[in-house]
Amino acid sequence: MTNIEHYAVFGSPIKHSKSPRIHKLFAEQTQQALVYDDQEVPAEQFQSAVSDFFEQGGKGLNCTLPLKELAWSFADIKTERAELSKAVNTLALQADGSILGDNTDGVGLLTDLINNHQVKLSNTHVLILGAGGASRGIILPILEQNVASLVIANRTIDKAINLANEFTHKGTITGCGFDDLANQQFDLIINATSSSLSNDLPPLPENILRKNGVCYDLAYGNEPTTFVKWGKKNQASKSLDGLGMLVEQAAEAFFIWRGVRPNTKDVIALLNAERGKVI
Ligand code: ATR
Repeated sequence: MTNIEHYAVFGSPIKHSKSPRIHKLFAEQTQQALVYDDQEVPAEQFQSAVSDFFEQGGKGLNCTLPLKELAWSFADIKTERAELSKAVNTLALQADGSILGDNTDGVGLLTDLINNHQVKLSNTHVLILGAGGASRGIILPILEQNVASLVIANRTIDKAINLANEFTHKGTITGCGFDDLANQQFDLIINATSSSLSNDLPPLPENILRKNGVCYDLAYGNEPTTFVKWGKKNQASKSLDGLGMLVEQAAEAFFIWRGVRPNTKDVIALLNAERGKVI
């Protein structure tokens, strides 16, 4: 008899999550016997919901907003990238019964940028907008690409400065407010604020995107986000949203759980086709 193993994504709100669909496509493609569903879990129910899930034989979980910091605290052991980001999006049951916490968001972003969109990062000047959990998860992987500099800009300036200070031992990184960006130029601007969720945009000075620069919004939707539109208006050579990153971070989680790497390009193409456009 085939032993079907159980995985899930926890978060709140969760009903629009594309993760169950992505993992179902991965499982079919790689012929893995598993089920993956979504569960609405508010922060106050996290501890009991996760404990129940693993006690009932669950093998692995993805955690999304607002649970990534709680998942970080829950994990018995963590990878270095998860430890530094203070956020965990993947929990995996280990052979000894302990729970491993990892963060696959950063590698998902880099795989999408570098492999899927041929964006070069070494020796470039990179700007991240926002200093919350989403920024935290991508800083170390970006610094590891030998960028010339990384600037974190945030509405609440102290948060940007404090976040940057946590990573100064890993590369050239500074934190500032949006006004401080005037007269600077960047090769790559990543929107890690939650502003796209409310169709809003951080107040960006003119001309901060270098000629042929790239814009990337960690958020995604059926329509181009406000930041993706800003990038196009500012002549970005590429102005991308986070659908590719979503699929790539899922593939990395799938690999952690199953030891098999799915083909992501077909899945990204399918999801792009389903939302009616190729961005
Ligand atoms: P996440 O885990 O998604 O990063 P978060 O920790 O709540 O969520 O952080 C949200 C980020 O988006 C913060 O950097 C926030 O700026 P503040 O720290 O100043 O609050 C930023 N943000 C949200 N809405 C924004 C807006 N309309 N303009 C600019 N920044 C915004």
